[in-house]
This record gives sequence, C-alpha cells and structure tokens, in this order.
Amino acid sequence: MIPRKIKSSGHSIEVPGDKSLSHRAVLFSALAKGKSRVVGFLEAEDPMNTMHAFSELGLKVEKIGQAEYVFTSPGKSGLISPTKDLDFGNAGTGIRLSAGLLCGLPQINATLTGDDSLKKRPMARILDPLNSMGASIQGIGEKKTAPLLIHGKQLHSFAYKSPIASAQVKSCLMLAAMSSEVSLDYEEEILSRDHTENVFRFMGNQLQYKTPTRFLMEPPYKFEGADFKIPGDISSAAFFLVLGLLLKQGSILVKNVGLNPSRTGILKALAAMGGEIRIHNQRIECGEIVGDLEAVSSELSYAEIPPDWIPALIDEIPILTIAGLFAKGGFRIRNAEELRAKESDRIASMVENLRSLGVEVWEYHDGYEFGEIQMTAKSSSLNSWLSGRSPRILTKMDHRIAMSFLVLQAVTGLALRIDNTSWIDTSFPGFQSLLESVLQ
Ligand code: S3P
Repeated sequence: MIPRKIKSSGHSIEVPGDKSLSHRAVLFSALAKGKSRVVGFLEAEDPMNTMHAFSELGLKVEKIGQAEYVFTSPGKSGLISPTKDLDFGNAGTGIRLSAGLLCGLPQINATLTGDDSLKKRPMARILDPLNSMGASIQGIGEKKTAPLLIHGKQLHSFAYKSPIASAQVKSCLMLAAMSSEVSLDYEEEILSRDHTENVFRFMGNQLQYKTPTRFLMEPPYKFEGADFKIPGDISSAAFFLVLGLLLKQGSILVKNVGLNPSRTGILKALAAMGGEIRIHNQRIECGEIVGDLEAVSSELSYAEIPPDWIPALIDEIPILTIAGLFAKGGFRIRNAEELRAKESDRIASMVENLRSLGVEVWEYHDGYEFGEIQMTAKSSSLNSWLSGRSPRILTKMDHRIAMSFLVLQAVTGLALRIDNTSWIDTSFPGFQSLLESVLQ
C-alpha cells in the first residue's frame, strides 16, 4: 500500500449527528407529553437502541426523513413497563441515562441489558447514588454490572459530590431527579460534558450554579415537546481533523460540528501540538455552539496535556494518539484512568496495538507515553521496520479503536490487519466510505 493523498484542497464533508445529543433528544422527548421533532439524529446503533428501548416504553417514533424523526410521548407518567428486556447494545450512555430516568417512575419495572462489552462496564458509579436517592436498581451481572433490574420508585431529593468527572453519572442523576420531580444538588471536580444541562435549559428550566461545577436543580420542571436540531459530532469529526493535519498538503473542512466547550479539548490539544484548525461560521443552535472546522496540513510536536483538559477530550484520545505518532518529541497522556472504563479498556487497547506496530510504549495506570517516532507519510523507522509485515490490530468491540487505526493506515499506507470494523456502526455508519471519498 502507498500513502494516500487528499483529493483536493479544501475538501468539504459533514459527519453524522452528535451521539450524546441524539440519546438526550430521545430521553427528553420521552419525558415531555406531546410531539418533539428531531433533525440531525444519529442513525447509528447506539442512539437507535435508545430509541427502540423507548418505543417499547410507549414513545411513538415516526421517521419523516433522513436523520429526521417525530417522537410522540404520553409524558413521563404515561410511559409503560416493557414486555421484554431493553437492549442498549454497546452504549454506556444509553443504558446509564435511561436507567436514571426509569428509576424515578413508580409505574416501571424493566431490565436493561447490552452486548458483551457493555456487560463488562462499571455500573456501581450509577447504582450507588441512585440507591441512595431511594431507587431500586440492581446490577445482576458479575461485579454488579448489567443486566440492570429496575423497580421504579418515587425518589427523594438528593445531594451528590461525584468522585469522577462523568457526564453519564451526572445526566443519570439529573434524569432521575426529573422523572421523580425532586431536587438535585450535584457537584463534580472538573466539568464533564454539559449537554444534559443545555437541553434542560433549552426546555425552559433553570439551574442555580453555586460554583462552575456545582449546581442545584429544583422542581417544578418543564417538559414540553421541542424541536431539536443536532449538529455533527465533534468526536466523529476528530478523525477527519487529524487526517487533515497529517496529510502532506491541503486541508479538510468539516461543516456543522458541535463546539460545546466541554467537548472541544481535542481542538486545544491539537493546537498545542502545532495543528492549525480554523473555526468558521460559529453560531448557536438549540443552546449549543456550532461551527465549521478546517484542518490544515501541519507539522506536529509534543505538547503537555493538562489534567483539566481530559474530560473534554476523553473520547478523542485514541485518534489524538495517532496524531502523536507524527509528533516531534513523542506523545504522552496521563490522568486518563477513565479510559479503562470505555467501550474497551482504551489504555490497554492502544498500548497493545501500538506495540504490534513496533512502537515502544510505557503504560501507566492512567495513560501511556512513547518517544519520537516521527512517522511521516513518506518514511519513518517504523515504516521500514514494518515493510513487508502487516501487523494485526485488535479492536476489542471498540469503534474508536477501529477508526483511529483506519486513519493511520490511510495516512501512512501501512498494511494493517484490522480484525473487525463492524463496531464502527455503533457511532459512525459510512465512516469508511467518507474516508475513501476524501482520499485519492
Ligand atoms: C458521554 C459521556 C462520556 C463519554 C461518552 C458519552 C455522554 O462518558 O465518554 O462517550 O453522552 O454523556 P463518561 O461520562 O462516562 O465519561
């Protein structure tokens, strides 16, 4: 294989809708009595599973166009117990947020489950605070993992200081407070993504902030059908931004991307590494910042990534690591232990796969590092070490591991044997054809 070149400078693409916002559009539509309309919904397995789960609970779903839906809900008190287990597939966000919402509805009995990857993911982080809030929820898997058994209850008001910066934990408890109409005083050390707060406000509610990372929400809450417009997912755009920076010349423009500041850590990290990413046409839509991103071919070098940037780039660390292979001075990520609780243990997955490529990697409990490889599209010590070999990449049921190594393969021309790319459909159907479309 030879390194690929971009077709033309200024190539313009769009990526599918934001995954976090797509899950939330279903959940908030289910709480609100009446019709909600969603444009830009991510038609990928993860949010589609949340949609199917809520249609089992009584949400009426009508597809009215590409990525466009009308949801009609009987309102939270009209939701009904499902007659079968609710399957959230690979999605931690789907199961954790839905669990919160359902725990606070006394008429609901439900079992929430998922695939083998989801059944290994930690659930104590939501089970403990939910049970302290008066919920009846139990993880019946090994190590209190999914399947989750829920007997809905009227919950009580609750104050919680989260030991981890997790939007899934925060959103789970917010949705529990909303479904039971009780108050929640929530604090985290570093702000995790705040989409739930934004949608909550977009629906006409208020949050009282005591500090930038501690708020109080109090009933009565407003839930009315709304029109949601979902921008492209910055986590999906990230693969093309890194591609644009690494190509030998030209640029890639990714239009209509969500730029919520609690998600844009990847832009800060790539800029600190010397990557030129221009923001065009910035605007606000449905309470979220949106813009077009242009990644211009750049020389990258080592940059320190501070601990308080981690929550805002947690999902982008695999592709950021690929950028690091091209950085003068190497790459290092620390303070990212949460990576071990994602679709795969992403520290172990990245370290193992980089080692198969011949990269000397140091693994830590909360990250990893490697020295300068100075991979270039033309040559590198790795490329010659690998010449004639085709290392195997193990994706471990993890879409972002698969997409990251596909980008590496496209930029370098390395012949990688990527074991399974089907996981990509959980978040980014059409990724491979979009990648092909920008390359010669
Ligand atoms: C998400 C929150 C993050 C992120 C996940 C989506 C969300 O997880 O990694 O992909 O939509 O709330 P944590 O909250 O567990 O860090």
